[in-house]
Amino acid sequence: MNPKLLSDVAYLSSAILFIIGLKFLSHPKRARRGNQMAAIGMLFAIVASFIFIWGGGLLQPGSNAGVLIIVGILVGGLAGTIGARYVAMTDMPQMVALLNGCGGGAAALISTVEFANFAAGRGESDPLAFGATLFGAVIGSLSFWGSLMAFGKLSGFMERAITSAFQKFLTVAVFLALIATIVWIGMGAGMTAFYALLGVSLLFSLLMVIPIGGADMPVVISLLNSCTGLAVAATGFALREPALIISGTLVGASGTLLTLLMCKAMNRSITNVLFAGVGAGPVATPGAAGASGPAKTAREISADDLAMLLANIQTLIVIPGYGMAVAQAQHVTRELADILTAKGVDVKYAVHPVAGRMPGHMNVLLAEANVPYEQLFDLEQINPEFERCDVALVIGANDVVNPCARYDKSSPIYGMPILDADKAKNIIVVKRSLKPGFAGIDNEIYFNPKTYMFFGDAKNAIQKLVTAVKAAE
Ligand code: TAP
Repeated sequence: MNPKLLSDVAYLSSAILFIIGLKFLSHPKRARRGNQMAAIGMLFAIVASFIFIWGGGLLQPGSNAGVLIIVGILVGGLAGTIGARYVAMTDMPQMVALLNGCGGGAAALISTVEFANFAAGRGESDPLAFGATLFGAVIGSLSFWGSLMAFGKLSGFMERAITSAFQKFLTVAVFLALIATIVWIGMGAGMTAFYALLGVSLLFSLLMVIPIGGADMPVVISLLNSCTGLAVAATGFALREPALIISGTLVGASGTLLTLLMCKAMNRSITNVLFAGVGAGPVATPGAAGASGPAKTAREISADDLAMLLANIQTLIVIPGYGMAVAQAQHVTRELADILTAKGVDVKYAVHPVAGRMPGHMNVLLAEANVPYEQLFDLEQINPEFERCDVALVIGANDVVNPCARYDKSSPIYGMPILDADKAKNIIVVKRSLKPGFAGIDNEIYFNPKTYMFFGDAKNAIQKLVTAVKAAE
């Protein structure tokens, strides 16, 4: 068979597999299969590229490029496999940031090689390919350095947003320098100008990410992810490589949609996330006396008393949050839910779209514990049920049940739709202290007269509760 036709068929198959894989990712039940299909799609794309290069006789005689590609695939494959196997679920956003940075960096490197070819007068001078090369270099390096910064912020290094008038002025100045360098290259400047472009892109990406707080990093990573997709698609145009164009466009489009969905779920605009410097203010002191009132106290409850309370209920809504992921409390929570269900309690799980630290975080956790999908409800479905609910059991969640989002215009989470846990007849909050969550703000729900605080690491606390519930039978 003609190698060109063979590689085209392989490219088409990979594109179809990517699209079906993405579609499957939209439901937790089929997400794993979707991921596998996309991985097979990537395998097809790699095979297609090999057929394209070797079958088309594009490798120069004596070149060791083929060996280098295979070594690259082996090293990358090994690092990716080890990283994916050992990364903790709670560190997944950092892992995504690193992987995304690699994609952006790869696009920038390919663009560098392509530009070197242009500068040396090799290959045909195609304005589209030239423009795509510059685009891939700028956006790819923005994505690379921005993702590394995001990784650092998520890992706890320089978590807070840093904003100042000087930083804003500098960002605008560097942006203008970026445009000027592109114009300089457009006028025929060579490699020196190109390296300057990479340097200015580095500065610009740092200045863009520094003023954004750690809490907004998942949104930033999603945005950078869409940038990586665009950079990869651009290098696809430069190289005339259909797999890069297709996969880059898919990543670009899905990353953009995900970014907008996350912003919508937090009731924030993308410009607010990027430029408002949320997270630059001081962190609230839990329960401290505010200017307007005395210090508040929260009511604590023991495992035995809680077991007594749960012995007389008919409905329970579990609200999982980031703390459940940290504690890995999903399995023991499922055990508690099973015991209560067996006693005739109607147990439901309320999943907030931005609970945890990444999209679908709670769905993944609960699916891991084999919680039936029928028991999972999203915000709009479950909120009307809280008023009739006997107990809202908040496990390691904080911001997503903070009532101040409804009325406090000065709050960073103002306008974010929340789960109406405070409307339940009883509220149980399981966490280690009264400390704030990701948004860094106090939560009045701890001091609600209907609330009992059940302090402790979520896994240990729920385990104690399970023991107490069994003992009370
Ligand atoms: P948070 O508001 O971050 O609160 C999590 C709580 O878990 C903390 O207050 C912490 O309190 C508790 N915790 C930590 N470790 C624990 C452990 N081992 N056992 C028990 N509790 C533990 O979480 P949330 O309610 O899920 O809200 C998510 C936040 O992240 C929102 O502000 C959201 O906007 C933001 N965010 C999410 C996303 C996505 S896509 N999910 C994207 C961007 C931003 P203690 O320290 O007292 O235990």
